[in-house]
Amino acid sequence: MQDLPRTLSEYFDVARARLAPGTAAYFLNGAGAELTLHRNRSDLEAIQVLPRVLRDLRGGNTALKLCDRNFAHPILVAPMAYQTLLDPEGESACAAAATAQDTCMVLSAQAAQPMDRVRAAGPECRWFQLYWQASRTATMTLVQRAADAGFEVLILTVDAPVSGVRDGEITAGFALPEGVGPVNLQGLPIPRFVPLGDGESALFDRIAHILPNWEDVAWLCANAPLPVILKGILAPQDAMLAVQAGAAGVIVSNHGGRVLDGAPSAISMLPGVVAQVNGAVPVLMDGGVRRGVDVFRALALGARAVLVGRPVACGLAVGGALGASHVLRLLREELEVAMALSGCRRLDDITPDRVIPPAPLSPAGSGNSVE
Ligand code: FNR
Repeated sequence: MQDLPRTLSEYFDVARARLAPGTAAYFLNGAGAELTLHRNRSDLEAIQVLPRVLRDLRGGNTALKLCDRNFAHPILVAPMAYQTLLDPEGESACAAAATAQDTCMVLSAQAAQPMDRVRAAGPECRWFQLYWQASRTATMTLVQRAADAGFEVLILTVDAPVSGVRDGEITAGFALPEGVGPVNLQGLPIPRFVPLGDGESALFDRIAHILPNWEDVAWLCANAPLPVILKGILAPQDAMLAVQAGAAGVIVSNHGGRVLDGAPSAISMLPGVVAQVNGAVPVLMDGGVRRGVDVFRALALGARAVLVGRPVACGLAVGGALGASHVLRLLREELEVAMALSGCRRLDDITPDRVIPPAPLSPAGSGNSVE
């Protein structure tokens, strides 16, 4: 067997050294001054985890039920575009890895491989991520493609509503190579805008006219043949609007620090969203998860599950399907160790009192009292 790195941080080092500089920047960097990218990490690291000793851990497990399915553990693969840039087998390799590690991969709307092929390689790739398209009709065409391919849940990403509406260019100097593109969007209309008049803004006077709003989301939730989870929620008020619009869940996320630089970390907004949603729908989180103990931290603050992006990308870049699979296994094993050392036998045991967050991260109304 090939020599694989032993830790996630080693995977990052090897991936950055191995990838072409432009590709490494596209996958690993953040937007702007990378404030949000770094906050995702530093705010997770600031949460202390309280050891609890001498507990009975026999029969423990990391199982959960989510969206009518049983999961072996709460670590899902986040949607990431153009994975053939990392490995020739791209999304198929990633889906095979997720399937080998008993978890669900979310396929990006900007996947570089056909959705049927990816699902054939890794049937646990059951959730499909989409961006709003040029119109309701175009969006529903894409939704139908995903439903026909056997996907079971839609993840509507709302924090980067159309590509181009981003703060800062993380891909300066990087262009997609010939032959790599969003193959699952073929045939969908591409918006064309009339030239700008004097004093007009491309964003407010053109692009804003095709951006989705809450009515569109409510329409999608009511008419799509699959449940819709909204990804990219940070404000508790937006989480409430998502529930009112009919969303089946929310993912607290700042797109891994790739969109609005200066946005708060996902983990810092998680407790407020959880309090606001108050159990109406599951709340998931992503951004900055690099160790099993980070999964523990997010679950303690109310996430049902987490998604991981860049660590899996690094696994793919370093070792293809085997590398991505190894990264997921390392995270799961680390989560088990964190659970054992904090006296948790099951995910339900990972309650807020297991961690000591810095003051602003405390969930509203819950203290840090120790049982
Ligand atoms: C992403 N992300 C993303 N999200 C999405 O909804 N659709 C997409 O196509 C992509 N594409 C994408 C490409 C790359 C290279 C990265 C790194 C990320 C965001 C992703 O789903 C997730 O929110 C973050 O990656 C989570 O942060 P970490 O785990 O990378 O820190």
